[in-house]
Amino acid sequence: MEELYSKTTASMQHSFIREILKVTKGVPGMISFAGGLPSPASFPKHLLAELFSNVITQEGDDVLQYGASDGDLVFKNIIKDFEEVPYLSDDEIMITVGSTNGIYFFTRTLIDPGDIIICEAPGFPGSLAAMESCGARMVGVEMDEYGMVPESLKVTLEKLISKGESVKFIYAIPEFQNPTGRTMDLNRRRAIIEIAVAFKIPILEDQPYRELRFEGERIITLWELARTEFNDPKLVTIAKSFSKILGPGLRLGFAAGPPEIIKPMVKWAQKSTVSPDCVTQRVAARFIEQGHMHQHVQNIIDLYHPRRDAMIKALKTHMPDNVYWTNPEGGMFIWVAFDKSVDTDKLFARAVENKVAFIPGSKFYPKGIMKKNELRLNFSYSNEEQILEGIRRLAGLL
Ligand SMILES: Cc1ncc(COP(=O)(O)O)c(C=O)c1O
Repeated sequence: MEELYSKTTASMQHSFIREILKVTKGVPGMISFAGGLPSPASFPKHLLAELFSNVITQEGDDVLQYGASDGDLVFKNIIKDFEEVPYLSDDEIMITVGSTNGIYFFTRTLIDPGDIIICEAPGFPGSLAAMESCGARMVGVEMDEYGMVPESLKVTLEKLISKGESVKFIYAIPEFQNPTGRTMDLNRRRAIIEIAVAFKIPILEDQPYRELRFEGERIITLWELARTEFNDPKLVTIAKSFSKILGPGLRLGFAAGPPEIIKPMVKWAQKSTVSPDCVTQRVAARFIEQGHMHQHVQNIIDLYHPRRDAMIKALKTHMPDNVYWTNPEGGMFIWVAFDKSVDTDKLFARAVENKVAFIPGSKFYPKGIMKKNELRLNFSYSNEEQILEGIRRLAGLL
C-alpha cells in the first residue's frame, strides 16, 4: 500500500514527542515532566456537562445542524467581547479546531513547497511539523531571555533574501513560550515588529498560554501592538487556543488577522473541517457569557503557580552548580540547560529507568541545529510532591 503514498505522506515523520510519551505513559511510579498536558484537575467538568446538556436541549436545532466554516457568529461575538476587541469585523476572525488548525490554515494560505518560515530556536515541534507538512523549510533564530534575538533575526533575513530565498513569515510564541517558558518583553516585541515591517514579512503570533500568567504585568500582544502603535492591522495574525484553559479535547481556538489572510484560511476550512464543532463552540460561548471564565482561569493559576514554585525550589535545592533554568511568569514549562558535556538524549534513557521523564531539548530545534545539553520540564501535570521527588531523581542522575 505504501507505494501509493503521496510524496508528502511518504516523507512525513512520526512525532518524536508522541513516541517519547508512549514510553512513559502508564508506567507505575513514573513521574513525567514530559507531556505538555494541562492538569485534569483544571477541566471544568461539571459546568461543561451542564452546559452541553442545556445547549443541546435548548439550542440543538441550531447547533446540531451544519455550521459556518468561519465559525459560529454567537461565539465570535462573545470572543470579541472577552478579548476586548469589539471593533474587530467578522471577516477578521475565524474559529478553528484548536490553534494547530489555525496555524495549519495560515501556513497553507502562504506557503508553496520550498518557501521559508522563520521560527524561534528552540520552538514548538507541533507547529513546526504542521508547517513542514505544507512543504515549508524552517529556519531557526536563536533566543535569549526575551525571545528571538532581533539582531540575529535581521542578519538571518538579510542572508536569506540576498540568496534569493522566499521568506514567507515569522512564527513566534511571545508568551511563556513552548518549550522555554520565556516571554518577550515590550521592547523586544517592538524590535521584532520593526524588523518585520522593514522586511515586509508578516508575523504569525501563537498565543495558547497568555491567560496563564501567575505574576508580572500583562504585555500587549504583537497583534495589538502592530494594530495600535504601528498602525499596521495587516502585519500580524494571532492564533489562540482554548486547550490550556478549557481542555484540549474540546479542540477549540481562533485566529484573528487581516481579511486578506482570514478569508483564504476559511476557504481551506471549507475543504477540510467544513466547520468547527458547532455544539462545542456554543458551549464555550455560554461558558464565557455566563461569566465563568475569569474565575475558572484564576482557579487554574492557583493550581499551577505553586507547582511552578515547587519546581524552581526543587531545582535550586538539588541541581549541581553550572545548571541554568528559566523562571517563567506563567504557562506550563521550564527550560533547563547544562554544560556542553551533558547529552540529554542519553540522559533520557537513564531518567526513564529511574522513573522520571522529560523531553530532550534536541527535539525542539528545526533540522540542522544540534544542541544536546538542554531539556524541557512541564510543571502543570504533576502535583507538588511528585515535582519535588521527580527533580530530586533527575538531579541524582547528573
Ligand atoms: C505553542 C503552542 N502552540 C500551539 C499548541 C496547540 O494547541 P491546540 O491544542 O490549540 O492545537 C500548543 C500545544 O501544546 C503549543 O504549546
